[in-house]
Amino acid sequence: MKPLLLPCSLLIFLLPVIIYVECVPDSHSASKQEHVHFDTGGLSRDSFPKGFVFGTSTAAYQVEGMARKEGRGPCMWDIFTKIPGFIADNSSGDVAVDQYNRYEHDVDIMQKLNFDAYRFSISWSRIFPNGAGEVNWKGVAYYHRLINYLHLKGITPYACLVHQDLPYELHKKYKGYLDRQIVFLSKSCRKDYAHFADFCFKTFGDKVKNWFTFNEPRNTAVLGYDDGSFPPARCSKPYGDCSEGNSSTEPYIVTHNIILSHATAVQIYRQKYLVKPILYRMNTFDWPLYIYIYI
Ligand SMILES: *[C@@H]1O[C@H](CO)[C@@H](O)[C@H](O)[C@H]1NC(C)=O
Ligand SMILES: *[C@@H]1O[C@H](CO)[C@@H](O)[C@H](O)[C@H]1NC(C)=O
Repeated sequence: MKPLLLPCSLLIFLLPVIIYVECVPDSHSASKQEHVHFDTGGLSRDSFPKGFVFGTSTAAYQVEGMARKEGRGPCMWDIFTKIPGFIADNSSGDVAVDQYNRYEHDVDIMQKLNFDAYRFSISWSRIFPNGAGEVNWKGVAYYHRLINYLHLKGITPYACLVHQDLPYELHKKYKGYLDRQIVFLSKSCRKDYAHFADFCFKTFGDKVKNWFTFNEPRNTAVLGYDDGSFPPARCSKPYGDCSEGNSSTEPYIVTHNIILSHATAVQIYRQKYLVKPILYRMNTFDWPLYIYIYI
């Protein structure tokens, strides 16, 4: 197995601070305090159509820290960063930038930089330590604190349900996205991802109106199951050096199950929580699919 350099992989899939520009309705009008001014060479907000949103983005595992604390269950990265040789410098997200404790400071910086939005991800195993079943209310309280503080500072929250951090228990139980039961057993029996999405919509939906179902599902499918460079490190030769997997079939099965999960989350939102029209975009510039949804 080729060692990964975690900082590089973070740049690729967890972009510490990406500035994303999306065309969504301009509902953000909170007053701002003093802001830092930069020489942008003449480029300004006026260079963009009205309604463009400027923000920063992170992944839960990348920034939160408190990986095994306050009731959080392990996600795939917790386990894989500890496998000798998987991460070249043995680093992990155990502490990261400690956003769990320092979120106010981070949001203050976003406000100083004059951003409109923050796209964060919700750690599935912080809400459901086993992937399903028992809720970790301390984790729920953390996201309430974060979201409340964003609103207080005039930053619009954009929540991503899964940013490549599947609960490890679901991998142990049925190999995660390789099994359809990640989202349902039958049409009338929804399962773990559907429950997680429903729980988040229900719990945070009064304060969060912009949702992403998955961040870069292509990375989950290809890096996790084709070349095996990301957890769960499954592949077959000559695509990578893994102890198990099948690069000819598994990336497609995973992609299919992620698309079904995305569709199910959208269906749940439309049926139970929709109070305004959905704006969504499916980005197909990279195989197999980027699926971002704005609700
Ligand atoms: C990572 O840990 C291994 C032992 O598991 C050790 O041999 C290696 O030197 C460590 N690498 C770094 C960069 O610390
Ligand atoms: C992958 O699965 C396919 C379909 O079951 C099979 O034909 C192929 O031999 C498998 N490849 C490996 C490397 O196991």
